[in-house]
Amino acid sequence: MKVTVVGAGAVGASCAQYIAVKNFASEVVIIDIKENYAEGKAMDLMQTASLMGFDTKITGSTNDYSKTADSDIAVITSGIPRKPGMTREELIGINAGIVKSVAESLIKHSPNVIIIVVSNPMDTMAYLAHKSLGLPKNRIIGMGGALDSARFKYRLAEALDCPASDVNGMVIGGHSDTGMIPLTRFAVRNSLPVSIFLSEERLEQVAADTKVGGATLTKMLGTSAWYAPGAAVSELVKAIALDSKKMFPCSALLEGEYGLNDISIGVPCILGKNGIEKIVELELTDAEKAKLQESAAAVKKTNGLLG
Ligand code: LAC
Repeated sequence: MKVTVVGAGAVGASCAQYIAVKNFASEVVIIDIKENYAEGKAMDLMQTASLMGFDTKITGSTNDYSKTADSDIAVITSGIPRKPGMTREELIGINAGIVKSVAESLIKHSPNVIIIVVSNPMDTMAYLAHKSLGLPKNRIIGMGGALDSARFKYRLAEALDCPASDVNGMVIGGHSDTGMIPLTRFAVRNSLPVSIFLSEERLEQVAADTKVGGATLTKMLGTSAWYAPGAAVSELVKAIALDSKKMFPCSALLEGEYGLNDISIGVPCILGKNGIEKIVELELTDAEKAKLQESAAAVKKTNGLLG
């Protein structure tokens, strides 16, 4: 199992680190445009191998995509992150060109690769990868929902005063401050609906805090977060590598599902060795449906900014 991570910034490096520490991949190649940067991150990470107990071989390269040849999975984190006060959508001008050229370089050397898009605005970048590569739709996956759901679980655990491992919940919709839809109706503590324990107002606060999860951290850190994004990607990579058939909300190209077409947006997906093996269609309430339509309209508006 060979995994390429494009972008040796904080998200790419964390992603490579978590993949290595989970010890399921034989090889991780990190690529960056900055001279020696990916090589340095790879060497630093490799010097943790004996300490962390992993056997994954991590190498780095300055933009030499021949080193990524025959990757099974590739993660695109390239581009600029947002600064405090910016929306993810504002990054489109710079990131669209970068993501398109990275996706094309990857496919040249790994024609069968499954691509996970992380760069923002993520749903639009995943859509761009679909449009420019024309791969079967199962092979391009946008990472956002797994991260947003982890943040939802963090906020639920905070409200319930319990460990995050005791809760479960899912966020669908666009990976944006206004587009995320935390599905509070389905959230559980152990197997019990969280509405047993939390008032409607408290649950609304949990949902609101979840939606600005990335923005809150960007304000605190001065740049976009990296640990949870990197960990979320590593879980998607692991589910594909191990053909585990686990369910994650991912940005998937829709062709009629949820009444949507020609858009990549967060919906529950089963992941396995073929990437997105199934899109799960939930029975949504009218209010949830309306939120998804609104979220999709916003993503389509951003897609419309692509040249
Ligand atoms: C975030 C970025 C990765 O939500 O979109 O932190």
